[in-house]
Amino acid sequence: MRIVTCIAPVNIAVIKYWGKRNEELILPINDSISASLDTNQMCAKTTVMISPDFESDRIWLNGREESIDNKRLQRCIQEIRKRVAVSGGTLSEEICQWKIHICSENNFPTAAGLASSAAGYACLAAALAKLYDFTGNISEIARLGSGSACRSVYGGFVRWYMGSDPTGRDSIAKQIAPETHWPEMRIIVLVVNDSKKKVSSAIGMKRSVETSKLLEYRAKHVPQKVEEMHQAILDKNFSKFAELTMRDSNQMHAVCLDTFPPCFYLNDISCTIIQLINAYNSAFDSIKVAYTNDAGPNTVLYLLEENVPLVLGLIDFFFPPSTISGQLYKKGNPPESITPTKKLLEKIDLQPQPIGSIRNIIYTRIGCGSTQLQNPSEHLLDNNGLPKNIQYL
Ligand code: DP6
Repeated sequence: MRIVTCIAPVNIAVIKYWGKRNEELILPINDSISASLDTNQMCAKTTVMISPDFESDRIWLNGREESIDNKRLQRCIQEIRKRVAVSGGTLSEEICQWKIHICSENNFPTAAGLASSAAGYACLAAALAKLYDFTGNISEIARLGSGSACRSVYGGFVRWYMGSDPTGRDSIAKQIAPETHWPEMRIIVLVVNDSKKKVSSAIGMKRSVETSKLLEYRAKHVPQKVEEMHQAILDKNFSKFAELTMRDSNQMHAVCLDTFPPCFYLNDISCTIIQLINAYNSAFDSIKVAYTNDAGPNTVLYLLEENVPLVLGLIDFFFPPSTISGQLYKKGNPPESITPTKKLLEKIDLQPQPIGSIRNIIYTRIGCGSTQLQNPSEHLLDNNGLPKNIQYL
């Protein structure tokens, strides 16, 4: 038998992927750029195992056995097997036909709706590549699971090139700069309380492609923004980086509203956070923080380390935490908050929100890409190929 375990990061786009030109191959209508977040706070972990003793392919996700007949999942597995067979890899044809068991979990609550499929598919692609000694491009395999997953294969700042080849061969991610490039950069993930069921990003973006004229406009103008963002990252130009990030998030959500029927991903709390950040930047007459939202109400802030204590102080003031949650409210060991002055609060001029509007805060930084874990104690499957964690059974 063969067994491999990998971890992969969550990534948060600063120039968004929104819209496919090919649904089947998951080919986007524009390049996108993201940063991969530190796996210590948020990551997917996946063990893959093949054995002649397994009777069928099986998968366990976050504590539950799920159907293996998921189209995207099958595509990743089949594609990697096919490519290994064609390139005459190191494993015999017989071994490549052994049934596979997959077990995957996140170290953050999936219910929080945070880019979990990106980390999950990047992790699966990385683990399958090691399992089958695949030497091709892993981001291309991850992309077949979920578009944004191709960016989670790498650490630091990553660009997904849309490519032009109809086969998707050149629609791959590449690193712009490693995780060490901008050491002062910090990320604060604000997990917003929300129970509404959202339209998935796959369905939302399909609907946008079909109905939004604004998306056509966006597609024409993103190439310029991507180049500017790429350069801002290389130059470590924070105010340029932050302005582009906020504008791009705003535009993606404007496209969602221009979609028919419209998709609403932001809620009142996300909008108040956006107002707070704009008011804070205005109060200092300089862009010190950027916000961005994916297909959900959770808001992610990018900022430099020196500004974290005051920004946390403002969040504490305007979004008082619930004291009854019992869980650790702030994760990732953030620094002590600074209480904002009366003068700053007057300038910001917003109303504090109901207690518990933000469920928790994850403080993190830029991190590395998918990585194989060598210690056998890290495997999520035991020697029989069953989940070690009893809750799965
Ligand atoms: C809003 O990668 O989840 O997070 O390719 O259909 O799986 P599929 O979509 P997905 O879309 C993510 C969209 C986004 C923006 C981004 O991450 O670039």
